[in-house]
Amino acid sequence: MENIQSAANGEASEYEGRVDVLSPEDLSEVLAAGTKEVHEKAENTQFVKDFLRGRIRKELFKLGAVALYYTYSAMEEEIERNREHPYFAPLYFPQELHRREALARDLEFFYGPGWRSVVSCSPATQAYVDRIHKVGREDPVLLVAHAYTRYMGDLSGGQVLKKVAQRAMKLPPTGEGLEFYTFDNIHSAKSFKQHYRSRMNELELDAETKKKIVAEAVRAFGFNMQVFDELDEIGRSLPEEVMDAGLPVHGEGGDRNK
Ligand code: HEM
Repeated sequence: MENIQSAANGEASEYEGRVDVLSPEDLSEVLAAGTKEVHEKAENTQFVKDFLRGRIRKELFKLGAVALYYTYSAMEEEIERNREHPYFAPLYFPQELHRREALARDLEFFYGPGWRSVVSCSPATQAYVDRIHKVGREDPVLLVAHAYTRYMGDLSGGQVLKKVAQRAMKLPPTGEGLEFYTFDNIHSAKSFKQHYRSRMNELELDAETKKKIVAEAVRAFGFNMQVFDELDEIGRSLPEEVMDAGLPVHGEGGDRNK
């Protein structure tokens, strides 16, 4: 269906031409169904709701990018470690998906060339990072859940967030500061997601393992919500004048967008 739609939209894709017949036991389906409720919860956290309304405090957006940098660094380190593992190899798409370098460029844009010495990993992010490392080292099949939760989300709602952020913070149309949201090597998010789903469904997994992966994905959503709540809490202590809401932003030390 998605292939037909992207063809109708005139989207060219190297992944088209294959129609998968899904069954309710397929990992892509149990994951979508099993995370539906927690996805709704995530969409309804205060931080995300404010973000969607364009109420983005630039200081918070920057801290969000820092949290993502540590998260993706951990995830991509574990993905590299497990890239030949039969439970992960079919999902290894570094050129298309990996975000660490894009986030490093965003952080350089926001904090300047010395960004590495001014950012640090927050407690909520550290808990998420610790879990990703534990999973990658001790139970790599669960890495699928972490990759699914982030990359599939980035290719979905992430595109809405990019437009909102660009408009609200008046970031340059060239995309600086928002490289995280830009997947240069994916021409059609829709067909790539379909390809990724079919790769997930080709993994040889029993029902018990699929259940464990769904539980881990729910946990991954939970870590993301903890990070959002932490950002929201930090936001409460920020002075009003740092609130963006389309007004000029003050005190942006290393930001070249001034
Ligand atoms: C899927 C929107 C937050 C993870 C989707 C889809 C939409 C969407 C429209 C469906 C795309 C499709 O069917 O192809 C949003 C919006 C959000 C949000 C507007 C809030 C701003 C999140 C968060 C996460 C997340 C916080 C996790 C960190 C996912 C995942 C999928 C997804 C994993 C794939 C579901 C599947 O097809 O199995 N999102 N999302 N989303 N989102 Fe979100």
